[in-house]
This record gives sequence, structure tokens and C-alpha cells, in this order.
Amino acid sequence: MFNTLTHPELSEREFLIFRDLISAKTGISLRDTKCPMLSARLQRRLRALNLPNFDAYYQFLLNQDPTGEERRELINCITTNKTSFFREPHHFTFLAQLFQDTLAASSNPRPFSVWSAACSTGEEPYSMAMTLRDVLDRASVNREFNILATDIDTQVLQHAQAAIYTEGDLESIPAHFKQRFFLRGSGSQAGRFRIKPELRDQVDHRQLNLIDPAWDVNATFDAIFCRNALIYFEHETQNRILRRLISYLKPRGYLIVGHSEHLHWMTDILEPVATTTYRVKHGA
Ligand SMILES: C[S@@+](CC[C@H](N)C(=O)[O-])C[C@H]1O[C@@H](n2cnc3c(N)ncnc32)[C@H](O)[C@@H]1O
Repeated sequence: MFNTLTHPELSEREFLIFRDLISAKTGISLRDTKCPMLSARLQRRLRALNLPNFDAYYQFLLNQDPTGEERRELINCITTNKTSFFREPHHFTFLAQLFQDTLAASSNPRPFSVWSAACSTGEEPYSMAMTLRDVLDRASVNREFNILATDIDTQVLQHAQAAIYTEGDLESIPAHFKQRFFLRGSGSQAGRFRIKPELRDQVDHRQLNLIDPAWDVNATFDAIFCRNALIYFEHETQNRILRRLISYLKPRGYLIVGHSEHLHWMTDILEPVATTTYRVKHGA
């Protein structure tokens, strides 16, 4: 009988040093219960690099990774990227209404800008793009909109940029949107669907680590979605990032978070306007 070659589980000491490193690099705070998950994911990196144990991997990260390539691999293997098209659909209904109201209110056409600040494999920013394009189609007007899509994980960003999805991924998309916004693959791409170029071009993908001291973003936004990412961070880190995100909103702009990320503790600056949807207060 043959068994897969595996490395031993992370010891408590090893778990703590990797947990601290991951927290410092990403903000992600791993609970003790995540030890088996971390162990399994790091073992993949040991195998890829042909390293004998976790200490050797830690030393490799510190001393043999001048370009940061392995740090990126580490980050890519520990992030949780679960997402779907039109996840929490009420947020997209809200976005459509906001865009319609903005079109109706502004005599001075200005681009409408939205940021997906933890975009994963692209379903969230493309759901925004479909929503906004549909509003323009229905209103028969031509107005610009821009979508910035950022994530720490370079692998999910590549997926988002390729914009190729399976039939199963498309299940939560209304039928007329599938027809309007997707190309059907053929030959080697049979069973796959790609977002049409006109919609892909509306989304600017970039790597951005929310805990970095400087963000390469020179714009302000009508709305920012930062959903289902901050739950993995300590409260103090969440607070710091949220206040920074708010500084990128236009006056009275909107911040939209995930279903378990209520922001009732930020009433000094935000007011709730719909489910997990907040508006910057007057004068804030
Ligand atoms: C669970 S997904 C959420 C995707 C999408 N926003 C949604 O709600 O469906 C969380 C995303 O946050 C990203 N993430 C984790 N830490 C991050 C950080 N420090 N900076 C930027 N993105 C981060 C992960 O790579 C992952 O793609």
C-alpha cells in the first residue's frame, strides 16, 4: 500500500508564528480552530518548494524570498474567496436605484463610480457592472460609470480579469442578463461563459491590500462595497480600514458591507439606510 507523503501537523508554536506573520501581512486573524486548515494549506507550499518542514518554510519566507513571490503564494493560499454573482441581491437593487436617482438628479453628467474593495474572482464587480449597464439600457441614456475592483489575492484577480465562468457560476444571474452580458464558449471552452468585452472594459482590476499604509487609488466613489472580508479582521483593524474607505466616498456616499458586518458602532460618521447599507452623515 502507498500513502501520500504528508508533512506533520503544525505544532502550537509553529501555528502561532505563522498566525502572526499572516496577521501582519493581511490583517486576517486566524482563530485556534483554524490550525488544521492552515496546516493543510501550508503543506501544499512545502510540497511545491520541496521543503522538509514548517520551520524551513518560515525561514524561506524570511530569507529567500527577495521579490515577495512566495509571500504572494502564501497569501493566495490562505484567503477565503467564496463569492457569487448577485450575492445578497438587495445590495444590487439598492445600487440600481441609487444610479437611477443620480441620473435623474444631475444635470451635470459626471461619471458614477463604484469600488468593490474585496472583489475575489470578479462576481461582485461584474454584478455591479451588469446592474449599472441595465439601468442605462432601460433609461436609454448614455452616461459613464467606472468600477474599481481590488483584492489582495493575485490568483483571484487573474480569474476576475479573465472573466470566464462555468454554467453553475451563472445560476444566480437573471436569464436576460446572461443573454445580454455573456458569450458562450465553444470547442475547448464549451460549457464556459465569458463576460462580454464591453462590460469587462468597465472594470479596472488592481491588487490592493486593505491593511497597507498607502493605497494607490486617486478617485472618490458614489458607493463602496466591502463585503465579507472584514469579518476575518480584528475589530481595531476593521475600524481603521472602514474609516479609510469612508474617506474615499463622495460627500453623502454609501458604504455597503456583508450580511454579518453590521456597523452600528460607527454612528458618529454613518447612518443606516437599508440592510447593511450605510450613508456618510451630513458634515462628516
Ligand atoms: C469571502 S471573499 C468576499 C468576496 C465578495 N466581496 C463577496 O462578498 O462575495 C473575501 C475576499 O477578501 C480578500 N481579502 C482578504 N484580506 C484582504 C486584504 N487585506 N486586502 C484586500 N483583500 C483582502 C480575499 O482575498 C477574498 O477574495
